[in-house]
Amino acid sequence: MNRAPYLFLGIFLALALSFVGLVLSNQISYGDFSTHIDEDEGKAFPLPAAGLAAQGKLVYQDLGCVSCHTQQVRREGFGSDVGEKSRGWGERQSVARDYIRETHVLLGSQRVGPDLRNFAARKNANGTDHTAASLYAYLYHPQAVVKESNMPAYAYLFKTQPIIGQGSAKALKLPAALGYEVVPSPRAEALVAYLLSLKDTYAYPETKNVYTPPAPKAVKSKESHK
Ligand code: HEC
Repeated sequence: MNRAPYLFLGIFLALALSFVGLVLSNQISYGDFSTHIDEDEGKAFPLPAAGLAAQGKLVYQDLGCVSCHTQQVRREGFGSDVGEKSRGWGERQSVARDYIRETHVLLGSQRVGPDLRNFAARKNANGTDHTAASLYAYLYHPQAVVKESNMPAYAYLFKTQPIIGQGSAKALKLPAALGYEVVPSPRAEALVAYLLSLKDTYAYPETKNVYTPPAPKAVKSKESHK
């Protein structure tokens, strides 16, 4: 018996089904997804990354920050990233549109450190905004800022140079040691610009009224015992 037509049909179906499942369904869901034009503000969100931040993203990729940090805030009911009693990593969950301008999305796979997707919208441990200066100090020596921190130090992104005249305005606030100062390298400046650009706070239509599953332990009301 000639089984060739069946074989052909089987292979064709396997390929066709994979195409529908992997390519077509995604194309239907996200294919005509675009930026959201806010007519009041006259801008298209998400806003494009500034040049230095875009360079900083490459530094972030290069240094493997993604191996310890994710960039995806989970919605309430799917973890404790947002909502009451949460880690406060974002005011809302991340949605597909947040990443629409990115050619490389750095979602990450494990959270050794906090999620950074909304880092710039959060506050420092002392309740103030993150600034370039606070981030330089942190990257240079995390344990000097958070005592128990197990975040690696990136001191090699800084250079130690003799203080000439007034010294550099970007130098870290360290005790002046024998006329030397520690200043961020261009890579450190770009990386910090990138970290300060991580802010997903814009409320897209799809971020409102998203389905939140009920809390795992439903507290029975007295009524139900009647
Ligand atoms: C080995 C894992 C590891 C790597 C690699 C790593 N981090 Fe971290 N990071 C951590 C941990 C753990 C913390 C939390 C501890 C703390 O607060 O100091 C942290 C905290 C941070 C914070 C503060 C977050 C907050 O919400 O306060 C920033 C910013 C940060 N990391 C940026 C980076 C950048 C940029 C890189 C790459 C240059 C990087 N990390 C690489 C583990 C890592």
